[in-house]
Order: sequence, then C-alpha cells, then structure tokens
Amino acid sequence: MKTFELIAPCHFGMEAVLKKEIIDLGYDITEVNDGRVSFLGDADAIARANIFLRSAERILMKVGSFHAETFEELFQGTKAIPWADFLPQDAKFWVAKAASVKSKLFSPSDIQSIMKKAMVESMKQVYGISQFPEDGASFPLRVFLMKDEVTVGMDTTGESLHKRGYRKLTAKAPIAENLAAGLIMLTPWHADRILVDPFCGSGTIPIEAAMMAANMAPGRNRSFLAESWTGIVPKKLWYESVTEAEDLIKIPTDTDIQGYDLDEEMVRISRENAKAAGVENLIHFQKRDVANLSHAKKYGFLITNPPYGERLSDKESVEAIYKVLGERYKALDSWSLYLITSYEHAENAIGRKADKNRKIYNGMMKTYFYQFMGPKPPSGRNRNREEDQNS
Ligand SMILES: C[S@@+](CC[C@H](N)C(=O)[O-])C[C@H]1O[C@@H](n2cnc3c(N)ncnc32)[C@H](O)[C@@H]1O
Repeated sequence: MKTFELIAPCHFGMEAVLKKEIIDLGYDITEVNDGRVSFLGDADAIARANIFLRSAERILMKVGSFHAETFEELFQGTKAIPWADFLPQDAKFWVAKAASVKSKLFSPSDIQSIMKKAMVESMKQVYGISQFPEDGASFPLRVFLMKDEVTVGMDTTGESLHKRGYRKLTAKAPIAENLAAGLIMLTPWHADRILVDPFCGSGTIPIEAAMMAANMAPGRNRSFLAESWTGIVPKKLWYESVTEAEDLIKIPTDTDIQGYDLDEEMVRISRENAKAAGVENLIHFQKRDVANLSHAKKYGFLITNPPYGERLSDKESVEAIYKVLGERYKALDSWSLYLITSYEHAENAIGRKADKNRKIYNGMMKTYFYQFMGPKPPSGRNRNREEDQNS
C-alpha cells in the first residue's frame, strides 16, 4: 500500500500527548511542530487516525511542500503538485485555511486565491478542459507557511474531530472534546482511579474519561470527508477500522467518575450527552455546589474547567469560586487537582502554587493547565488496607 505523510493539527500545547497517541496507534512520527504532529501511514492510517485519535483536531494528507518567498514561487510550487493524482475532474477544491508564521507571504486571502488559480492550471493540463464543474466530492486544503516553507495538506476529516457527535447541548463555555481528552491524558489518571469534575457543565471531561475507561474510540460514530472520495481510502478500510473500534470496547464495571454542577439544567444536559456517548452508566452526575465538594475515598483526581470570569462583572464571584475550590481541595486528603483556566489569579485564590503548569491555547485564548499533584496510592496489600479504612 502507498505510504502517505499525514499531518494532525492539535491545540497548541498538546503536541506531546498527540505524539504519544500516534505512536501508540502504531505509526512513525516524522515531525512535531507547534500545533501539529506529522507521521507516516498508509490509506488504512487515514481511517484509523480519524477514528481513534482523541486529541487531534483533524487529519490532513500531505500533498506537497516547497519554498516560496514570492507569489510567483507560491504559484509555481502549487502548480507543480500533481493535483490530478488526487482530485477527480468534478472535485470541489479550495484552500480552506492558510496559516503563516515568520514568512514573507502572510495574507491568507491572497495565498488562498493564488493557490486556487495554480491548482486550476495544473488540472487543466491533465484533464484538457478549462472550466471545472466542481459539483463532485469536496477537497478542502490547509496550508502552513513556516519560515517560507509551504506545506500543503488535504483535509480528510471535514467537520473537526472534536465533534464526536454526542454533545447535542452545551454549557456557555464548553471545552472542546479533544482538548478535554488531551488534558486527561496529561494526568496520570486511569480507569481504576476516581475522577471528579466539580464544574462539569455539559459533562465533557467526565464523558471523555468514561470513553477512555471503556476504550471507546472517539470517532467510531461519525463520518469523515475522505469517505466520499474515490480512489484514496477504499470503503472497506473505513468499515474495518470501525469494526476494530467496536471490538476494542470493554465496558468496565467499577468506575468512579463523577460530574457536578451548580446548575440543574447543566446536570440534565450532561446526562443526555453521556447517554448519546453510550457511557451514561459509567458516570454519576449530580447538582452540587463546589462548596459541598467531598469524597469519602483517597487518591482521587479533580480534573476540571472552572468558570474563567472573562467578563469584568464576573471577576469577584470567580475569585470566590476558586477560593472555595482551594478549601475543598485541601480537605480532600491525598487527592490531585488539575484545572484549565485563563483566570490569572487561580493559584492565589486556591491558596497554593501548582506543582506544574502548562500553557495551552484554547483557540486564541491563552490558558494554563495547573497541576497540583497528590501522592501515589500505595500498591497491593497496603492499598487494600488503606482503602478499607477510608470507605
Ligand atoms: C466553564 S463551564 C464548564 C464547561 C464544561 N467543561 C463543558 O465542557 O461544558 C463552568 C461551569 O461551572 C458551573 N459553576 C459555576 N459556579 C459553580 C459552583 N459554585 N459550583 C459548581 N458549579 C459551578 C457553571 O454552571 C458552568 O457550567
């Protein structure tokens, strides 16, 4: 089978998590850049990456790369890509997004229109026609310019991978599903440890955790753009990858995953979303103020996305929320706390400096993932004795 170079964009700050996921899926990494990880794979990898990767934003198939400092070089470089090898005569094709960093060419709209003209020129030479109907399958392209090096990728995903399909209703400021999954993977949490999200909103963090606990591939219930293409990823590979994903599901019987929110409506929405994801039996949702946060057992994880207080009017109440969170966390013996927020005074309000923090861009918003690490649970017999004492 032909080998492709595939590019998986992700949130800035999540590259290491995505890289590990790709290696675990069985592929070799070729490059890691800010906000994207590249790897090698065959047509099968296009289907599997789309279906299995939790922290990726989409999967692009690299179709070319070249150096361009002028629009003429951009035109010629684009024209030299063998477009007709990928695009059928009726293809609908366009540059959906152009991102430029430290490069002479930086205007997205100019880059988009020049590349489109160059693609048409290349296609004309092969197909021998001058007007393309563009009424067939869609082939959106994404282009990165980094220090004048142009990388061109064809989007195999379509609607972003964070859209797993289970979140019909959301909170006011929901976290993207792929970011939530990536954050969980940045912690040492695993399925036999306790996870509580005290500000669960529409339930994204508990739902992503439950899907991990059940080994459910995030993309197994949705469709992808490349499924409508002919000649690149045979239909059979999509079916096989979905079957592989279904076969790997293993519903655990003893998870302790909980989501709380002050807002009753959010709790209702979380339950509906969990049901749509097929994990409603693995999560306990409850209306609860963070002021009443407690848990009888030790060594649990709080993984959460509290209110940010972006609006000036919210600032005071936000400080109070983080203070209460800090107090409740202090009372939770041996727990770890992981939280993502753009609220600058989070550590002050919580009353403790984080053991680690990591800058993560949530879209254009700079956020930090604060990590307050509790002790590791004792292993074997000691653990059982200690858990008996605490239950
Ligand atoms: C940023 S949103 C969480 C979004 C969530 N991660 C999602 O993906 O939908 C913060 C949530 O905190 C809840 N909240 C605000 N004050 C609270 C409190 N005192 N106790 C518990 N939840 C609270 C809000 O109702 C809101 O749903």
